[in-house]
Amino acid sequence: MTAPAAPTSVLIDGIGTLVTNDPGLGEGPLGELADAALLIEGGRVAWVGSASRAPEADVRVEADGRCVIPGFVDSHSHIVFAGDRSREFAARMSGQPYAAGGIRTTVAATRAASDADLLGNATRLLREAHAQGTTTLEVKSGYGLSVADEERALRVAGRLTDEVTFLGAHIVPPEYAEDPAGYVDLVTGPMLDACAPHARWIDVFCERGAFDEEASRRILAAGQERGLRARVHGNQLGAGPGVRLAVELGAASVDHCTYLTGDDVDALAQSAKGGDGTVATLLPGVDFSTRQSYPDARALLDAGATVALAGDCNPGSCFTSSIAFCIALAVREMRMTPDEALWAATAGGARALRRSDVGHLGVGARADLALLDAPNHIYLAYRPGVPQVAAVWKDGEIVS
Ligand code: NIG
Ligand code: FE
Repeated sequence: MTAPAAPTSVLIDGIGTLVTNDPGLGEGPLGELADAALLIEGGRVAWVGSASRAPEADVRVEADGRCVIPGFVDSHSHIVFAGDRSREFAARMSGQPYAAGGIRTTVAATRAASDADLLGNATRLLREAHAQGTTTLEVKSGYGLSVADEERALRVAGRLTDEVTFLGAHIVPPEYAEDPAGYVDLVTGPMLDACAPHARWIDVFCERGAFDEEASRRILAAGQERGLRARVHGNQLGAGPGVRLAVELGAASVDHCTYLTGDDVDALAQSAKGGDGTVATLLPGVDFSTRQSYPDARALLDAGATVALAGDCNPGSCFTSSIAFCIALAVREMRMTPDEALWAATAGGARALRRSDVGHLGVGARADLALLDAPNHIYLAYRPGVPQVAAVWKDGEIVS
């Protein structure tokens, strides 16, 4: 019998700026440390501090004065799909409005795809996300919309992440066009029975043309009764009940928030006071790719709401896996400071997924981090479109 391999410790040394997201560990709201080092052991952060006091380790990585940040926590994606909607994007750029009805195109392609193709496509997108600094990615179903196809999508998602979301209530599929109430019965009955064991979250697209307030409440409540936790797509295409419902049901997050009333902002701010409130997850890549106005991040932040930034990688409304791009949009177009945008894409995403082990680099956190080819995180918005992620660790292992 061979002895088990000794645990390997890795020291990342010579870090110019280390963003910990723990104000107790360093300067400012992001807890930044200059001339720092970070020790990884057993997949976790074992030590952080001044490089001059760095401990010994089995392996030493030299950061050469570059910046280390927590890996991005992308709390919203739809990467289990097949097909292509690039022409729909081109038509939008020529003036066509975004209509969520395009989802049907993807549903047809996804139903027709093999398991291997779905897994292969999703795996490629996950790797693409890793290479750009994302270390936690939530993945939704929602392009199957039959019992078997939704369950299949969740099984595929479960091969890639722990953050799996059942979105049978994405739209009403064509075969239920004349019986939308029957589809809600299916989602809350046999589909939920088949899907609940494969998911952590339940989501609903609460929007005109998708599911109204009453149907959304029924669907989310049914999921919660089965032990799933709620998240909501809301206020994407117009003002509506999504935010109010999310707060009322104690959803972890309401995503999009492009059209908010003053009451919506107040409800989100009020909910943030309670600690585990409903996070406002902003998806600026969607507003970019659908030519909509951007959400009023400033109003949310100034009111005290908790704000996350996520990518929403999907073939219709936003086909990017780049959180750096979303940060650049948030800073340039939504008046978030670079500090606020980085926090929202890391610690904010962790809040939206109710995770305390990711989104920061305090001792004991998961060793999920990105080394940037830049002296500080401001460069993510300062040099938009430029690849600046040099290396990525997830659970202490290099993934890119
Ligand atoms: O988050 N809003 C609904 N769902 C996706 C878009 C899906 C699609 O267009 O295929 C979103 O934007
Ligand atoms: Fe979405």
